[in-house]
Amino acid sequence: MNKLRHVAIIMDGNGRWAQKQNKERTFGHYQGVENVRNIAIKANQLKIEVLTLYAFSTENWKRPLIEVNYLMKLPEVFFDRFLKELMDNDIKIDMIGEWKGIPEDTANVLKKAIAKTANNKGLTLVFAMNYGGKQEILQAVNSCINDPELNTVITEDIFNDHLDSGKYPDVDLMIRTSGEYRISNFLLWKLAYAEFAFVNEAWPEFTPEKFETVISDFDDRDRRFGGIK
Ligand code: FPP
Repeated sequence: MNKLRHVAIIMDGNGRWAQKQNKERTFGHYQGVENVRNIAIKANQLKIEVLTLYAFSTENWKRPLIEVNYLMKLPEVFFDRFLKELMDNDIKIDMIGEWKGIPEDTANVLKKAIAKTANNKGLTLVFAMNYGGKQEILQAVNSCINDPELNTVITEDIFNDHLDSGKYPDVDLMIRTSGEYRISNFLLWKLAYAEFAFVNEAWPEFTPEKFETVISDFDDRDRRFGGIK
């Protein structure tokens, strides 16, 4: 059995899933929010430590304003509906990405959820919001340069600690839904030795049962981390 501490998911395919049913793309995002709840509860039951979800990338600003505005409302929709249940399940919330640029209302909703769940001991559910992997690495480079106490050679550990995602373990398993085979600037440093699973289901149809199947497939993989067994 492989150790599974950190799972990361690119929740792709909401828009196409909705359009296939002649519905607005936003309907897909709304259903996607519901699935965040379902997968987070399952991840918590499976004793996964950290689940990082790609909720809004630095590139998503290129979308039409109406969709960007809708995506920025999703944290409010999510926490209005599910914060109580997250508390009941001892789930902790965190965020990685640039706060600067996120509308104030959205940032406040996220900060409130982070504060309220800070002492929870179950799964840590991390939303990558206004997040880009290259930007995260650059921010860590600049923070190393500007750290007055850092007058030494920068090691992997030191660099890692300057990353937004630094306090979390390396990603063990990265899942992308909707049949696309890309990383899309997600967690570039933390994915160094991750296993990948690309599934055909769109995010709203990626059920907890399917999630368990992907995890059991991960269990069967031979992880060698560059060594030999
Ligand atoms: C990609 O699908 C998905 C997103 C850009 C947003 C995903 C966000 C959620 C599912 C909810 C986030 C929840 C919280 C609480 C912040 P797409 O629109 O690119 O789909 P497409 O490839 O079919 O167009």
